Amino acid sequence: MAVSFRELGLVNTKELFSKAMKGGYAVPAYNFNNMEQLQAIIMACVECKSPVILQISKGARQYANQTLLRHMVPGAVEMAREMGSNIPVALNLDHGDTFELAKSCVDYGFSNVMIDGSHLPFDKNVELTKKVVEYSHDKGVTVEGELGVLAGIEEHVSSEVTHYTRPEEVESFVSRTGVDSLAISIGTSHGAYKFKVKPGQEIPPLRFDILEECQRRLPGFPIVLHGASSVLVKYIEIINAYGGKLENTAGVPEEQIKMAVKTNVCKVNIDSDGRLVMTAMIRKYLAENPSEFDPRKYLGPAREALKEMYIAKCKLLGSDEKA
Ligand code: G3H
Ligand code: 13P
Ligand code: ZN
Repeated sequence: MAVSFRELGLVNTKELFSKAMKGGYAVPAYNFNNMEQLQAIIMACVECKSPVILQISKGARQYANQTLLRHMVPGAVEMAREMGSNIPVALNLDHGDTFELAKSCVDYGFSNVMIDGSHLPFDKNVELTKKVVEYSHDKGVTVEGELGVLAGIEEHVSSEVTHYTRPEEVESFVSRTGVDSLAISIGTSHGAYKFKVKPGQEIPPLRFDILEECQRRLPGFPIVLHGASSVLVKYIEIINAYGGKLENTAGVPEEQIKMAVKTNVCKVNIDSDGRLVMTAMIRKYLAENPSEFDPRKYLGPAREALKEMYIAKCKLLGSDEKA
């Protein structure tokens, strides 16, 4: 049976983005796949009073069971209310790839859907995105589209090369599709290996020239930054100190994220940094406590570290104290 996101206590991204645009900050979009990640996100955003977009990827739906994952969300909203907080919470389908998937999420209570037709020829991307927009808007659900392709290899999002967004296409895409926000490709990528740099080498700056040109052509229109994890060195070091092997990783320097949120960037996607924190803390705990076998003992500290990391992210994006 279809359910509206409003019945689940969720909001779409309209007001979230118009406030972010006026305030010069970005709303965090955090991916989750399990209970501990969801708890950490909510606890962090309640504590620092930040609006939040929860994201479920196709991979997350397959891993955790889409029904169970979606039903955890109203529970998380209720948990926030019990903590005395009224933070706005949106639920986004991350990288939806078909109309049917986007439609099922709209019908199932998501408040925003991303339809990622970025790998398609321009006209096909317009056609698919427009179809999703028409269906979603009818139910009050907002839609994110994408132009340009991010590099990065992950389970369900992969491209070996970057195709930067062509600013000359953005006005036509937005007006023809009616999307509410647009993800662009300016040099970020998915995963923990964002830039091919040798140890000690500088990370190349993001293409702020493309971002600025998109902004000039779409004044006041919300832009989304994917692949925005910083691949925090602190956690890479813990992982490697406790038996892991993550070499030559590189993420987006925090200074550049700070610059990006001063522009029209209203939504910043972070998944990999959460994965790294969890892995680091679990590796450390198990190495230091080899006889422990209760998952709560190692998932608890991982959840606590995740919460602290999410609070730091909200502060970096400037979304703290905005709820
Ligand atoms: O954008 C990609 C996200 O990090 C999700 O990745 O499909 O492996 O869950 P995933
Ligand atoms: P990261 O891999 O940089 O965390 O990016 C996540 C993302 O863009 C999800 O859509
Ligand atoms: Zn992404």
